Amino acid sequence: MFLDTLEGLNKIFKTDIKPPKVVLVTGPPGSLKSSFVYMLFSKYLKNRDEIGLYCTLEESVSSHLTNMESLGVELIYNMQIIDFSSLRKEEEEMDYLDFLKKSLIRFKEKYGDLFTLFALDSLGALYSIMEEEKNLRRRMYHFFQFLRELNLYAFLIMERDLEGNSQFLGNEGYLSDGIIYLGMKNRKGQIIRFLQVEKMRAVEHSMAPHAITVKKGEISILGEILD
Ligand SMILES: Nc1ncnc2c1ncn2[C@@H]1O[C@H](COP(=O)(O)OP(=O)(O)O)[C@@H](O)[C@H]1O
Ligand SMILES: [Mg+2]
Repeated sequence: MFLDTLEGLNKIFKTDIKPPKVVLVTGPPGSLKSSFVYMLFSKYLKNRDEIGLYCTLEESVSSHLTNMESLGVELIYNMQIIDFSSLRKEEEEMDYLDFLKKSLIRFKEKYGDLFTLFALDSLGALYSIMEEEKNLRRRMYHFFQFLRELNLYAFLIMERDLEGNSQFLGNEGYLSDGIIYLGMKNRKGQIIRFLQVEKMRAVEHSMAPHAITVKKGEISILGEILD
């Protein structure tokens, strides 16, 4: 199922990924995190009657859709995008995590088992608007549990570079079922993009970085990068 979405994913995953899964999608700015998740969802939902929810905090819905159009990604209609970036300005005292959980519960009540995909773009942006929150670590622990109980494929996007700089609280790596790193490498004077699966519970997978290309609305996974 997931292996049929992007070309070449079977070079990395030997067995398919089953829900529930809470997966961190990490990497530096411009490493295709948003595009990767959106494309994955677009491909997955194309011939299914399932429903996805993509929650954007970093950019507006229109900016996000403009980027996806530029990449040539097919826009999909069984995916709803909610835009938290507008809420941020209006509501200073709002409990964003609670609002997000309520939105997810509402979705589950409305669509039942057809609601299968959730993306948060990004976890870092959610943290930055919740900076006053005292029990954030504990609340996030419960949020990860909550996502699993909904039996979703949940993709949480987070900026992180190879030096380890990120907005992580520290425990997300243990709490998540999977960690995907999207990066860029300089190789013989050329920048190449790559994808590396650092962790994926209950799945047989390669840990090696694999080169990726993006063209005509498709991210394709090429071969392993050998140093
Ligand atoms: N039409 C296109 N073809 C190839 N690459 C593109 C195209 N449009 C945008 N990009 C690349 O996508 C990048 C942005 O991807 P994005 O998913 O927003 O990254 P991230 O979410 O990791 O910051 C741009 O920096 C650019 O390199
Ligand atoms: Mg992004």
